Amino acid sequence: MASLTVRQLDEKLKQRLRLRAARNGRSVEDEVRAILRSAAADAESFAGISEPAPAAAEEGEPARKATRRVLLIIGGGIAAYKSLDLIRRLQDRGAQVRCVLTRAAQHFVTPLAAGALAGERAYTDLFDPQSEFDVGHIRLARDADLIVVAPATADLIAKMAGGHADDLAAAVLLATNKPILIAPAMNPRMWAAKATQRNLAQLTADGVRLVGPNDGEMAERGEAGTGRMAEPLEIAAAAAAILHAAGALAGKRVLVTSGPTSEPIDPVRVLANRSSGKQGHAIAAAAAAAGAEVVLVSGPVTLADPPGVTVVHIETARQMLAAVEKALPVDVAIFAAAVADWRPLRMSASKIKKHGQPPTIALTENPDILSTVAHRKSGRPRLVIGFAAETDDVVANAEAKLKKKGCDWILANDVSPATGIMGGDSNTIRLVTAGGVEAWPPQSKDAVARALIERIDAALAGPKK
Ligand code: C5P
Repeated sequence: MASLTVRQLDEKLKQRLRLRAARNGRSVEDEVRAILRSAAADAESFAGISEPAPAAAEEGEPARKATRRVLLIIGGGIAAYKSLDLIRRLQDRGAQVRCVLTRAAQHFVTPLAAGALAGERAYTDLFDPQSEFDVGHIRLARDADLIVVAPATADLIAKMAGGHADDLAAAVLLATNKPILIAPAMNPRMWAAKATQRNLAQLTADGVRLVGPNDGEMAERGEAGTGRMAEPLEIAAAAAAILHAAGALAGKRVLVTSGPTSEPIDPVRVLANRSSGKQGHAIAAAAAAAGAEVVLVSGPVTLADPPGVTVVHIETARQMLAAVEKALPVDVAIFAAAVADWRPLRMSASKIKKHGQPPTIALTENPDILSTVAHRKSGRPRLVIGFAAETDDVVANAEAKLKKKGCDWILANDVSPATGIMGGDSNTIRLVTAGGVEAWPPQSKDAVARALIERIDAALAGPKK
């Protein structure tokens, strides 16, 4: 095996590694090992999840993450098979999921299946030296924003109520200081048993949240009653509601514009551009996952509406401006849309016919939505953020745009065709503020969105923009 000397890395990288190691309570060497291990296990999760956001790259800054982390504890019941789907449903809502399986759970689902879906190894043993070296049960308990127990069996519920710590799941549940949501699943008689109801009353008094159980058929033939685990969608919605209330942007209103605008020439033809809306939609989803109330004003895109976001669909720049003004006041406005600079001066009421000379289409300028909002005398959002898609002199143009448009930050990106950014899934950002320029590493548009939300959270928390 090759050996690697940390000393040979460049200063900037070393600094980031030191900060990361300190944040995770490891030596720099152990941090590098953990990064390599996680990269080998899942290159994708390394790129998207473990990359520290540029926002947090200053010493002493809170290491609050915009991505919400759910620790899913899978108990040993037949409903455990639904927990595999629950991993996906939680991810759909923007959560990063890590799994713990009890010994009994492994009779129903495997750590391999849970780990493969979560994109990270599943944890099973309290006394596994590897797990303790990786994270340890105390860090497993503390690293999450929410712990979900599904299925929560009668036995797990009893252990929780009694404060047991004789396996990994019980120890994590006892050690955590984070909200806990349980989705009970058991035979109706076990559910109705005095001991179970007594334990549940204790857990409720302890602040544990409950979703389900539902009424219906049991796995055992001919058995019905209360005891079916809530459906994965219900559990994910309950989890999202708890995370939402505790999110970094909880209580904040965020406006995002996204996608292209489409300016009609006649009833069938339009002036448009190549914006996919991927970056703007990812930002809206990340803001919602961080607990913000989000309004997304989107031009025509082929993307699905992000969950938990109010989406206003528009076509033209003027419609976008009207929708934006209607959404105000907001705390933060992020203008990621590629608004057409011009529109046809007049839209032809009927389809323009081909005869002889090609038509001349007179254009007129569209309103600049970002500049309009940034220059508002009253009701200006606390943070107004624009994008600059440039093909040349990216930073210089972005700096000029920051002044001209009166916004607080510009996220500049090079969209020359060779970069593949337009319509692609990754992005390389230069964050231009009055304080200077920050170069962000190339990363997925989802990761850019999370980094931006963390940066916004830090800016709203402190006096400095
Ligand atoms: O001037 P340019 O189009 O390069 O500026 C890009 C930034 O301005 C983006 O944030 C974009 O959403 C915003 N913009 C706008 N209204 C326009 C043109 C651009 O909000 N008419």
